[in-house]
Amino acid sequence: MSEQHLLKQTLRAVMVGQQRAAADEHRPLWHLAPPVGLMNDPNGFIQFKQRYHLCYQWNPLACAHGAKYWGHWSSADLVNWQHEPLALAPAEEYESHGCYSGSAVDNDGVLTLIYTGNVKFDRGRTAWQCLATLNEQGEFDKQGPVLPLPAGYTGHVRDPKVWRHQDQWWMVLGAQDLSLQGKVLLLQSADLKNWILKGEMAGSGLGGLGPFGYMWECPDLFRLAGRDILVVCPQGLAAEAQRYLNTFQSGYFSGELDYASGSYQHGEFHELDHGFEFYAPQTTASDDGRRLLIGWMGVPDQDEFCQPTVAQGWIHTMTCPRELSWQQGKLFQRPARELQQLRSEPRLFTGVADSLPKIDIGSVELALQVDGDFSASFGGILQLNCDAQGLILTRTNRRTGAAEQRFWSGKVTTLQILCDRSSVEIFINQGEAVMSSRYFPGARPQLCLQGNGALTLHHWRLKRCVIE
Ligand code: FRU
Repeated sequence: MSEQHLLKQTLRAVMVGQQRAAADEHRPLWHLAPPVGLMNDPNGFIQFKQRYHLCYQWNPLACAHGAKYWGHWSSADLVNWQHEPLALAPAEEYESHGCYSGSAVDNDGVLTLIYTGNVKFDRGRTAWQCLATLNEQGEFDKQGPVLPLPAGYTGHVRDPKVWRHQDQWWMVLGAQDLSLQGKVLLLQSADLKNWILKGEMAGSGLGGLGPFGYMWECPDLFRLAGRDILVVCPQGLAAEAQRYLNTFQSGYFSGELDYASGSYQHGEFHELDHGFEFYAPQTTASDDGRRLLIGWMGVPDQDEFCQPTVAQGWIHTMTCPRELSWQQGKLFQRPARELQQLRSEPRLFTGVADSLPKIDIGSVELALQVDGDFSASFGGILQLNCDAQGLILTRTNRRTGAAEQRFWSGKVTTLQILCDRSSVEIFINQGEAVMSSRYFPGARPQLCLQGNGALTLHHWRLKRCVIE
């Protein structure tokens, strides 16, 4: 469809829907969410000329998946964001069924997007990896496809993440091989236009893994504390008693990439988040040397459309921006330090859980020191149980009405909890693990603590952030 047509439809959808979406009681005060329609993966996350840029998979026309656009925000501080001109609309033949996920690089001063042009036919599909470059008006000019579907793979090849290493561009690309096994491909280029396939860097049946999913989406590779971390979203892992419980998984391997041979020696797969909603994260390096991560607080095909915001014309949010570090042989995640600017005056409560007052949790940060067992009820509809075994998060499934649970095992000493209207992100032991979840409480939700455990609780109300 012509770009003009798509833009006219989008403008109308935003004009019709944005007030209702903004007025929704479940609308976050400081997490990023789409003006209208469906948002999924974070894309093109980068700090470029001092500003952060974050694009997002967006269907502005409906609360449904479909031919995705790229929306675009920018920010000086990861807290206050502004809308930028729409980055990509799926107008060309090589992206007729969506401008799918991808990344951004600084190509010698030119902000350049690398994304997947998704094309569906009556039977089957294909995928093109494409470029677009930022112009003076803050709009992206499409440069067209630079990589067709590589031989030996189905049409499920997507989500390029590109970085610079020793004067070359490198790409990890999610793929499905012809035996329907999920893979990550490694490619190399001198100019972002001509790509050489180095091979399969990791995947189902490789690197010591048995069968490990039929498709690997949204790979990301970065160096942290002297190791190469591969973040990826394998689809098709069987649920186990206490892990792999979401429809699709998102996790990481730690290892060593040999760029010359393209081989990647890695350890086990670890889930990045233990909550109900987390998928397709993307990382970037900040100018001050941090590795930052933003994820999608949603999971594809996981009862998405039972969320009540659909009736208000919008669905899904991003996670808060997080800082990564390597500690105790694990990837730690903590809320980006910039988020502290949202805090108001702190309040402090100490005592056994049973003795603490109820706390309004519309938009708050809670920091708990924990000694003993307790439980926390968020708005009466999301329960967190903490005992010597670890944490269990329980809620009622909105489709089936059955109880559902997520788990983290280990000794809990501290919890940092961010609540924003319809989400809860629980950072365990200074970032050793995270549980991210959406929930949809009634008006003025409160936190109710119970049990004999001794708690020290700092509590800040969090301000609304600015999206202009
Ligand atoms: C992950 C994903 C990507 C794809 C995009 C389409 O959520 O399926 O693999 O590029 O979403 O919106």
